[in-house]
Order: sequence, then C-alpha cells, then structure tokens
Amino acid sequence: MVKKMEPTPSLCIRGVSIFQGLLDSAAQMEMVAALREVARMAPFFRPVTSRGQSMSVRMTSAGQVGWVSDRRGYRYEPRHPEGSNWPPIPESVLAVWSQVVPNARMPDSCLVNFYDADARMGMHQDRDEADLEQPVVSISLGDDALFRIGNLTRGGKTESVWLKSGDVLVIGGAARLVYHGIDRIRAGSSKLLPDGGRINLTLRVAR
Ligand code: SIN
Ligand code: MN
Repeated sequence: MVKKMEPTPSLCIRGVSIFQGLLDSAAQMEMVAALREVARMAPFFRPVTSRGQSMSVRMTSAGQVGWVSDRRGYRYEPRHPEGSNWPPIPESVLAVWSQVVPNARMPDSCLVNFYDADARMGMHQDRDEADLEQPVVSISLGDDALFRIGNLTRGGKTESVWLKSGDVLVIGGAARLVYHGIDRIRAGSSKLLPDGGRINLTLRVAR
C-alpha cells in the first residue's frame, strides 16, 4: 500500500504531535454546531468510577462504540447509558482524523468530554483499544487547558503545554501509551462556547 504524506506538526513533545491552530474559528464553530446535535441525541452524563467517585468531566460519545465508566468499571459500549445507539461521528470531525493521520484506519469512537472551569483529568493511558498500532487524535475546543505529558510508565518527570481552541493532538507510534492528563482549565480564555468551558474530542479505533 502506498503511504500518504503525513502533515508536519508545529510542536512535538515526547512523541505527541501537536498541530496548533489547525482549526480556524469557522471550522471550530461548525464543529460545535455538529456536537450540539450529538449531545441532543446522546446527552452528556457524569460518569462514576468503579469506586463510586464522580468524574469532574461530563461525557458523551459518537460512533459505533462509546467509552463509559460506572460501578462496573470502564469499557467501550455500543449504547449510551440511557439505551440508545450513539449518534454517528460528525463528518467535520472525521475529516480532521483523515488530515492528520491519513494512513490510519477510520475511528469507530469519538469521546466528547466537557470541562467546566473546575474539571480536570488525572494522569492515565489510553489503553482500552483493541489495536494499539492505531493512533489517538484529540481536538480541543473552547477554553485553554493545561495538558501534562508523562512517560510510558506511571510517574517520573512530566512536561506541560497549554492547549488552545482549534489545536489537534496525535498520540501514536512510540508515544501511543504515554501517560497524559489535564491539570486545569483557564476559564474565560475562549469565546467559542457561549457559556464557557472546554470540549475535548478523543477519536480512537476502539475495536
Ligand atoms: C483525555 O485524555 O481523556 C482527555 C484529554 C484532553 O481533554 O485534552
Ligand atoms: Mn486520554
């Protein structure tokens, strides 16, 4: 198979490629409109961990499977907790995947995380997917977020970068299992979402 040209990221930290400002404001607004439709069909919910702790982000998904966490643990599920199928991944979101990882399989899951001013995401690996050769693509919309990148094992030195609305990350190759998390949100730093906050889309080939 002939390999397609991969675009050059503006920044690379510990093997994580960052395409800063890949989406202009018109593209961001179009994506938010499509996500409103996703949230209408699959409302945001606040997941709990298997220990019963509420996560600070609210979540929903699009695609054939969605990532969920509840008292039974976390896993990919073909249906929203309320029972309906997840809506399809918006075309504009799939187009970003094709642009930044043109040689990968198409994603079957798009996690939509909503962060209010106080939400965070602890350090973790994305490792619930069947084929870890396939990359993870993450899209940031709305308020700035301080993204921390660690190592392939828990602990050790880390590096942080502020992600802005329209930035796109690729976590793949040797960095596919790198620990990462969100330390904090800079409230009011973007006007994209009328009520503030941040949306992160995580696209994955889950199955
Ligand atoms: C995640 O890794 O689950 C979310 C990352 C982000 O919000 O940028
Ligand atoms: Mn993650």
